[in-house]
Amino acid sequence: MTRSGIEELSEETLRSLLSFSKNPVSNSAQFSAFIFDLFTDLNWAGFYYYNGNALVLGPYQGKVACDEIIPGRGVCGTAFVKRSTLNIPNVHDFKDHIACDSRSNSEIVIPIIKNQNVYGVFDVDSIRLDRFTQIASTLEKLVDVFIQCTDFEEVFKIGFQPI
Ligand code: SME
Repeated sequence: MTRSGIEELSEETLRSLLSFSKNPVSNSAQFSAFIFDLFTDLNWAGFYYYNGNALVLGPYQGKVACDEIIPGRGVCGTAFVKRSTLNIPNVHDFKDHIACDSRSNSEIVIPIIKNQNVYGVFDVDSIRLDRFTQIASTLEKLVDVFIQCTDFEEVFKIGFQPI
């Protein structure tokens, strides 16, 4: 199958996976698991969402990670304030890289932007150097599908409650 054929199939699978809910918590969890399974050599895939003060750890796959990242710090905080994707082929060359998992060698961070609002970032780490240059545009397309299928304003009315 051609690369675009695989992309189309992944997009279609993702759309049906995310068609049951617009809830940002469940969709973020499903999306992290989907990406973690789809690509080889990943050691972390997940979200940080902005709470008005810091980027707070959201749903993810991988080892335990730092709870909060200050906007402007690390790869995540930098992509967040710049509102653009940051592809880091070698994290050891990025001065302000925050090392949550010492096995990481490359990283990509894609901001979550809907209707001009930046809600947070999607962060993926790999044990392989330069894992993301070839798949960056595919990842961005898949993140775009995730964004289309998710209502981020739901964060304020998620609907969990005690009885
Ligand atoms: N490496 C990121 C921190 C988050 S972890 O990789 C999960 C950064 O520099 O922002």
